Amino acid sequence: MKKIPIILDGDPGHDDAIAWVMANAIKEFDIKGITTVAGNQTIEKTTLNARRISALIGLDVPVAKGSDIPLLGNLVTAANFHGESGLDGPELPEPIREAEDISAPELMAKILKESDEPVVIVSTGPTTNVASLLLANPELKEKIKCISFMGGGLRTGNWTSCAEFNIVVDPEALDIVFNSGVPIIMSGLDVTEKALCYPEEYEQIRALGNPVAEVVAGWFDFFMKHLRTLGYRGATLHDPCAVLALVRPDIFKFKDLYVEVERCGHYTRGATIPDYYGQKNKKPNVKVAVEINREEFIQVLIDCCRAYNEEGGKI
Ligand code: RIB
Ligand code: CA
Repeated sequence: MKKIPIILDGDPGHDDAIAWVMANAIKEFDIKGITTVAGNQTIEKTTLNARRISALIGLDVPVAKGSDIPLLGNLVTAANFHGESGLDGPELPEPIREAEDISAPELMAKILKESDEPVVIVSTGPTTNVASLLLANPELKEKIKCISFMGGGLRTGNWTSCAEFNIVVDPEALDIVFNSGVPIIMSGLDVTEKALCYPEEYEQIRALGNPVAEVVAGWFDFFMKHLRTLGYRGATLHDPCAVLALVRPDIFKFKDLYVEVERCGHYTRGATIPDYYGQKNKKPNVKVAVEINREEFIQVLIDCCRAYNEEGGKI
């Protein structure tokens, strides 16, 4: 089977971490590198978390640190959801690899240049690194097969009432990505708020008994603490949608839409605005996931966690 070369770019973050556990277990993927971005926590914390997740799942690939601030504006973090470390909860192994001495966009560019074929970028945090790559290396656009990102929402927000966290942090970055001409798959709140994992389901993961499955269940334990206070009965698996949309499109429904990013609204900055009614006479720039088969999604999650052995490596 010809594997899909991918770069994992994110701000771990509990759901980023679960997305990376899944990506590492999916045989179709050839993970070329990890790039970190500030978002759920500061860049130092998300980078340390990325290095620890890599050690946990036996993923020995370069890890490079992104910018400590968004392209414009100030950094917003989400300690209320992810804790002071950005990945509070279960103990993680010490990192095995140091972070690279090149930046995240530079590692992305290096991977694209060295790859024989176009590479997929899976972005599960603010798209600051992806935008920086596109600005610094426009000639490499043709080496990007597609950008599958988690962020935005066609009709709702979760950080403000109309804007989703990743895009609130860096709306300019997503605007650059949306206008790049690169194929884009968007897993926004329209689908990720339906990608819920209920306690009885993550108990099935805990019961698998391998070290990775036990840590994943521990991440759910922590992640649910704040979500319960907001009235959620299940954990919103936002970031794993951006991974699964690439290899299991059959469990999603998509709409091709022309979507813009609000950057100037005093109260609406970060909103992702679809041209539902074709008023703009523009070609669609984003393939947006709008529905998901939740039960199928959870089955894939459990199967991915089952793929790890006693030592944390893949079976
Ligand atoms: O709004 C959810 C998104 O913000 C997820 O990517 C989560 O990890 C946080 O980054
Ligand atoms: Ca994230």
